[in-house]
Amino acid sequence: MSKALTYLAKARPEAATSLLSFYKHSVQALDEKTRHLIQIVTKVTVGTERGLRQYAPKALKAGASREEILDAVLMAFPAAGLNKVLDAIDIMREMDLLPEVAQESPTADSSLRLCTVADLPLQRLQTLQRPSGDLLLYRTDNDTVLVYSARCPHSKANLCHGTDHGTQVECRVHNWTFDLASGACLQPANGKTLQVVATEIRDGQLYLLSAPT
Ligand code: FES
Repeated sequence: MSKALTYLAKARPEAATSLLSFYKHSVQALDEKTRHLIQIVTKVTVGTERGLRQYAPKALKAGASREEILDAVLMAFPAAGLNKVLDAIDIMREMDLLPEVAQESPTADSSLRLCTVADLPLQRLQTLQRPSGDLLLYRTDNDTVLVYSARCPHSKANLCHGTDHGTQVECRVHNWTFDLASGACLQPANGKTLQVVATEIRDGQLYLLSAPT
C-alpha cells in the first residue's frame, strides 16, 4: 500500500476502507497478470510515473512477458498520445522491463579494449554498457578483473540498474543478490551464478575476448 493510502487509512478510515474494498472486490473475472497489464495502460494514459513503476514490475512478476508489457504501453497511445507513451518507454527501459531490440552483431566488438585496468577501483562494482551486451566489472586486485554479463540469471533484468552493495549487486526486479567476487547468487542461495565473460589483460588494458550471450 502506498504511503498516501496508509496516511488516508488513518486520517479518513471510513473513506479509505471503502476505497480499498472497491479495489479488492470490484474486479473479479480478470487474472492477476491481465489486471496489472491494464493498470499499465491506465498509468500511461494518466501519465503517472509512480504508478507505472509500481505496476509494471508486478505485471512481470505475475507472468507477463516484456513483449506484453510493451504492448500494454502502446495500447495507451490512442488516449495518452505519443509523448506519454515515449515517456513511459523511457521509464520501462530504465527498469529493464521492455524486450531487447536487435543490436549490432555480437562479434562486431569482440576482442575490443574495455578499459584501463588501473582506472577501475578495487573491489567496487563498475558497469559498462556495450552494444553486444552490458557488463559488470569487479577488480579484485591489481592484476585481476572479473567480468560478468549484466543479465540477471533469473529473468534477464539488467543488473547495471541493480542496487550496488559494494561487494554485492542486488537485482531490482526480484531482489536476487549476487556476490561479485564469485558471481554466486547469495540471496536466495539457489546455486545460480552470473555468467562469466572471457577477457584478458594486456599491457594494463582489459580486452573482451567473447561477447556475452
Ligand atoms: S530478474 Fe528476477 S531477480 Fe533479477
